[in-house]
Amino acid sequence: MKPDHVYIFDTTLRDGEQAPGASMNESEKLEIAYCLERLGVDIIEAGFPVSSTGDFNSVLQVAKKIKRSIVCGLARSKKEDIDAAYNAVKVAEQGRIHVFLATSKIHLEHKLKKSKDEILEMAVEAVKYAKKKIADVEFSPEDASRSEKDFLYRIIENVIKAGAKTVNIPDTVGYSTPQEYGQLIADIKNNVPNINKAVISVHCHDDLGLAVGNSLSAVKNGARQVECTVNGIGERAGNASMEEIVMALKTRQDFYGVSTNIKTKEIHKISRLVSRLTGFVVPPNKAIVGANAFRHESGIHQDGVLKERSTYEIMRPEDVGFMETGLVLGKHSGRHAFKVRLKALGIDVSEEQLAQAFGRFKNLADQKKHVYDEDLFAIVEDEIKVDKQIWTLVDLVTTSGAKILPQVEVTLRSKGKVHKMSSSGDGPVDACYKAIDGLTKVKGELLDYSIQSVSRGKDALGEVTIKVKINGKNVIAHGTSTDIIVASANAYINAINKVIAQEG
Ligand code: KIV
Ligand code: ZN
Repeated sequence: MKPDHVYIFDTTLRDGEQAPGASMNESEKLEIAYCLERLGVDIIEAGFPVSSTGDFNSVLQVAKKIKRSIVCGLARSKKEDIDAAYNAVKVAEQGRIHVFLATSKIHLEHKLKKSKDEILEMAVEAVKYAKKKIADVEFSPEDASRSEKDFLYRIIENVIKAGAKTVNIPDTVGYSTPQEYGQLIADIKNNVPNINKAVISVHCHDDLGLAVGNSLSAVKNGARQVECTVNGIGERAGNASMEEIVMALKTRQDFYGVSTNIKTKEIHKISRLVSRLTGFVVPPNKAIVGANAFRHESGIHQDGVLKERSTYEIMRPEDVGFMETGLVLGKHSGRHAFKVRLKALGIDVSEEQLAQAFGRFKNLADQKKHVYDEDLFAIVEDEIKVDKQIWTLVDLVTTSGAKILPQVEVTLRSKGKVHKMSSSGDGPVDACYKAIDGLTKVKGELLDYSIQSVSRGKDALGEVTIKVKINGKNVIAHGTSTDIIVASANAYINAINKVIAQEG
């Protein structure tokens, strides 16, 4: 281990997925895992295998496919958890078991109802048990930041003796502050005699908006692994955001004096992917990955940047894979220009997907004058996200107004046949979804609906994100169009296609 290397431990697929409403299926998790591997994360925490068969299978799939990152499974300090984690990660080229047990007085008294000695014994036994199965074991004293320090030191010393190679210090409830948490790491370094035999890791939650600040303060005080998630998603207010940690360490290398393995140009891509698959929209003002993160509005700032970029920019947008938004293509652009532009944006598509996306682009260029990079991302993602287009929208006619009952006529195609149905509803979207239900014979329950403008201007593409319950499964799907009712219909049809494809 190089003393100035900080390991990035990504827990988007485990703690990130614990964010209310963020559940992902096996193939979506695998897609994120591939992207995390390309990004260069050192460890991927792929799930909590004992928690469900679905979680076990997802960790197993990630363990089978991912070669360059360590694949980790979470386990409570119980034999059945450790067995499940081991069975899921044992096929990995590099596997890790992450064992945890709460150590704070509050958790001991109210949740676990155990004495300190009992906890110490359980932790040591769990690490020893895991260690017999796999070489790479991490231990987390849950709620470490609210634990009595002397007890924490004792636990850490003993789990290291039992074989833990990484000791993680969670600020489970996001209670700590940067000074206090940095001091805790320094105190652990000074008071745990065998601490040099393990990597100190940090895991901060964002309940007070301090997760990134706390993690960075810990690094300054000697922590060398940071646990984080893409876009900061996670339990309650979320975890420390991977992109903010990585870019802070890179941009302020002068201050922190450490480096990571992250290929920062991949950041924007993974941020979009996680946002799409979880349905968690990234706010425009979000640091590093928000749409406005590199936009200058004030005249003074624009003037400064034009004269010398560093006057108002501390990072280059291209370093996080953010492409300059400009007028790139239009009605007269050909297939070659389209392909070249996609390549420049780092979008890889097959020839078949390219043909479909080009068709969509031409239609879009007919409807709107300016086709921005964001539009290209949206239409390409639309084309590649559903492998089987079982149902496709052929046409949609709506009649609505302030004083009339909305009516729609939807025409869909499936297996070469065209089907048509009319319906009314509380609004045009409701009417449209009723007609689609009738045609596909699938009954979806709409749980969440949001709409966002993909780029700028009154003619901008609208991107609809929905969460629907179909046949007992929650699915997230998207649809784009310059017409928001058409975008809503596309999102709903994509959700139905997704479920039919999954059910085979
Ligand atoms: O927040 C927490 O304490 C956790 C542990 C399981 C590491 O997620
Ligand atoms: Zn956590």
